Formats: sequence, C-alpha cells, structure tokens
Amino acid sequence: MSEQKRIPQHVAIIMDGNGRWAELRGKERYEGHAAGVEPVRASLRAAARQGVKYLTLYAFSTENWGRPEKEVDALMELFCQSVVNETPELIRQGVRVRMIGERSRFSEKVRSYLAQVEQRTAAGETLTLILALNYSSRSEIVRAVRRIASRSAAGELDPESIDERTVCAALDTAEYPDPDLIVRTSGECRLSNFLLWQASYAELYFPDVLWPDFTEAEFDRAIEEYARRDRRFGLVK
Ligand code: FPP
Repeated sequence: MSEQKRIPQHVAIIMDGNGRWAELRGKERYEGHAAGVEPVRASLRAAARQGVKYLTLYAFSTENWGRPEKEVDALMELFCQSVVNETPELIRQGVRVRMIGERSRFSEKVRSYLAQVEQRTAAGETLTLILALNYSSRSEIVRAVRRIASRSAAGELDPESIDERTVCAALDTAEYPDPDLIVRTSGECRLSNFLLWQASYAELYFPDVLWPDFTEAEFDRAIEEYARRDRRFGLVK
C-alpha cells in the first residue's frame, strides 16, 4: 500500500452530452452548453488540486459547424463570454490557456477573444488548459503533412529523415506531451476524431455521466480509475 498514487500528466476530455442534458429537461440545446461551463471550472479545480499539468478540452470540432446556425452562434457567444468572465480566475489559479485547431475559420471577434485570453494567461505555471476549437485529428494530421511536404519540397528536409518526432513536431500539439488519460462523458465509447495520433498509448475512460453533471468528484474518479490501470506501452512488466 506504500505505492504513491499515479497522476496523469495530461488529461484530455471529450465533453459530451450537453444536448441530451437539455432535452431531458425540456430546454434548448444551447442551455445544455451553458450548463457545461461549470464542469469546466470544476475540472480545472480538480486537475490543479491533483497535480495534472495539462488539461485538453474538446470544445468544438470541425464537424460541429454542421449544427443549426442558432446553436453554433450560441456556442461562439458562450466561448467569448466564458473566456472574458473566467480570465481573472484563470490568472489567479495560474492556468495558462492555449488552443489547438484551425482558428482561421472563426470570426474576427472570436479570434480576438481567444488571442486575449492566451496573452493574458501566458505566465500561468500551475496548469495548461488546451482548448480544442475547430479541431479534428484528421485535419490536424493533413495540415502537419502539408507542413512537412513543403519543407521537403524546399529542400530543407530529407524525406528519409522523417520519423515520428518530425510528425509530432508538425502537429498542433507539438509543445505538449501526449495525453495519458482520455475521458469521454455521456457513455459514448468513441474518440470522434480527437487526438488520434496522440492517443496511441492513452488510457480511455467512458463514464455514463452527461457533461453538465460532471463534477470535481467525477474528475477524481477518473484519476482513481487511471491509477488502477496497468500501462505497459507494448512492453512486458
Ligand atoms: C458536445 O455535446 C458538446 C459540445 C459540442 C460543446 C462543448 C462546449 C461546452 C461544454 C461549453 C463550455 C466550454 C468552454 C471551453 C467554455 P453535444 O451537444 O454533442 O451533446 P449530445 O450528444 O447530447 O447532443
């Protein structure tokens, strides 16, 4: 019993179930998303308390643009409001906010709000919060391949020298370690185009709880589940 509890360095969460949470209560879907802000705060508090250094949240996928315009607009407004309202608390907690995904598709307003929160929280050292926005793993990999091909075509990179490190360095996540634990709420058991390259050795955990009902205690449960897993990375003990 003397073994210290294992804490994942990087936790990534697919925040799923906002729509179902709202429908169950006869509310509009966007109200489910609004109710999804408190679990973000709870996860940040729990992650910081547990000593997790990176928390990635899948907040908007490239596929989410296909949702009704009203829902997409409400989500954009929620992202803007949240980053403004939460910035003082994020700074107080030492949270550094970063983003992965392609920001060029966002409006000028959304891009400027994101840039501001990144800039204002840049000195945070407790925890890095990585928001996956207009993100999908396949599009990230395609962009990485383009970068590598351009460097190769320019004569800067010998194709024979391309290895896993070259690919990692060309991904949006180049600066961050791979996730140790990926959580998807709402009981759905799939990755939906999220961190597919980076998830190679991640532990996966699928609690039944809908995202608006996710609490600090739920986050702690995910960490406890992770601590029980036997990670072998293809090796034997
Ligand atoms: C998926 O649930 C959730 C989203 C597409 C949006 C996630 C956004 C938030 C939780 C808002 C707060 C986030 C930040 C970063 C401030 P869904 O709508 O697909 O749920 P369903 O499968 O039940 O329909």
